[in-house]
Amino acid sequence: MIITEMTAREAAALINDGDMIGVGGFGPAGAPKCIPPALAERARAEHAAGRPFKVDVVTGASIGASCDGELAAADAVDRRLPFSVNKEMRHAYNTGRVRYTDLNLSDNASHLRQGITGRLDWGIIEAVDVQDVRGKLRIYLTAGIGIAPTICRMAEKGVFVELNTWHSTKIIGMHDIYEIEDPWLRTPVRITHPIEHIGLPYIEVEPSHVRGLIMCHVPDEGRPMAPATEVTDQIGRHVADFLVWNIAHGYVNGRSLTLQSGVGSGANAVLGALGRCTDVPDFNIYTEVLQEEPLRLMREGRVATASTGALTISADHLQQLYKDINEYRGRLLLRPSEISNCPEIIARLGVCSLNTAIEVDIYGHVNSTKVGGTMMMNGVGGSADFTNNSMLSIFTCGSTAKDGRVSSIVPFCSHVDHTEHYVDAVVTEYGVADLRNKCAMEKAEALVAIAHPDYRPLLSDYLRLAARYGGHTHHVLSAAFAMHDTYRRKGDMRLTDWGEYIKD
Ligand code: COA
Repeated sequence: MIITEMTAREAAALINDGDMIGVGGFGPAGAPKCIPPALAERARAEHAAGRPFKVDVVTGASIGASCDGELAAADAVDRRLPFSVNKEMRHAYNTGRVRYTDLNLSDNASHLRQGITGRLDWGIIEAVDVQDVRGKLRIYLTAGIGIAPTICRMAEKGVFVELNTWHSTKIIGMHDIYEIEDPWLRTPVRITHPIEHIGLPYIEVEPSHVRGLIMCHVPDEGRPMAPATEVTDQIGRHVADFLVWNIAHGYVNGRSLTLQSGVGSGANAVLGALGRCTDVPDFNIYTEVLQEEPLRLMREGRVATASTGALTISADHLQQLYKDINEYRGRLLLRPSEISNCPEIIARLGVCSLNTAIEVDIYGHVNSTKVGGTMMMNGVGGSADFTNNSMLSIFTCGSTAKDGRVSSIVPFCSHVDHTEHYVDAVVTEYGVADLRNKCAMEKAEALVAIAHPDYRPLLSDYLRLAARYGGHTHHVLSAAFAMHDTYRRKGDMRLTDWGEYIKD
């Protein structure tokens, strides 16, 4: 093979201050783990010598601690997009040290191709195998894809490939690599079933485009999920009943039920609980991340087939999957994020989406990203891609957060990611608010009914006060954030007197 082998440090030494790096993988499956820490080390050395050193980092979604965490801690990132769940990185963008662009994941690769993101200098991707076939290199990816195909094509100075022998070559054949054409020339992305192949199982590049091969043996960085709770079990049961009711009424086709499940411990546990409800028929999954519970349901046969952008499972679970790979072959497919989140396909498959909300307001707007309207949690990720295009868009959340001191149902969302026009239903442990075919005031009634009992009287009081001001959608603007303000001042949203917020 004609690629130069090099160390991670040697690769990092080629990257300059101000360069933009594109990093493969997705959430944090399949992300490279050697060059980013070496780059962080380089940044520290440059800073110690009094020289500036920061790079822009674009990824498919979140990546592992060895990239986001290390680079943020070394103050080595200027601009970051489109999504991150890393605590160090979160701190960096919430304190203004990193310019963070929160972007719909389906738009990310397309923005790179159109040049909206700027010039991409380097690609860094992880592979399980690289083969030289008739003068072209075939790069076989690992447990997550993200925007790796676009990175490989667009990186102007070349691509570094971390060949990670920790992964098993048994995963070869489970990727379906396809890049979407430019919007104005686009032919249909013809996926009519979650596991229909439309692309190749590898990325093909000119050998000269690969600037270095870094050999390594490093475990994937999937985080273990928080365990299910009584609340997530209850939510899962409500979602199951709601799906069964929709199937019975012909609103959802039970014979080809296709679900998407969002990111995080809550989404993982809710899908697990839903899967245990035998009234729900066996289903398919079309999603961007496959977490541990859906994978368990696949093993049990409850999930027939699954298409995902990544296997976001712990290292142990991933090794187990490699051992049992034959159980999944022909049933599981990994796709680039622009395909896993492609609006056209989500709509065609009639996906029912299940995403987690930080807060929901009484008229059905959803905040997925900013705590208190100001502090970015992770980002919108793929939640808008799915919510806006699914046939049935469901949000779930526990009725309270922070040990009951915060209500997830509020008079007015402190930030809106998903408007009432796309949110079909909201589910808490107290039930389902089906918002379809309801006017604003009916939505409010349904949402107050699934709030925590401690907060229902407060929300009803707000609605009574707001009624005085009339209109189609009742609000007292001076009091719309009174619960948030009370939490900020007193550490608990349960305000006792609306009077101080009513100005006239
Ligand atoms: N006010 C203040 N804090 C809140 C809150 C609220 N209304 N709701 C949640 N939080 C806090 C929790 O207390 C927790 O804080 P901690 O980290 O200090 O413990 C944190 O937010 C995360 O909540 P948790 O319940 O552990 O979340 P999760 O792992 O289930 O993830 C989201 C929930 C919303 C953060 C996550 O799903 C997300 O990032 N969603 C946006 C992207 C997305 O939906 N992608 C999927 C598309 S396929």
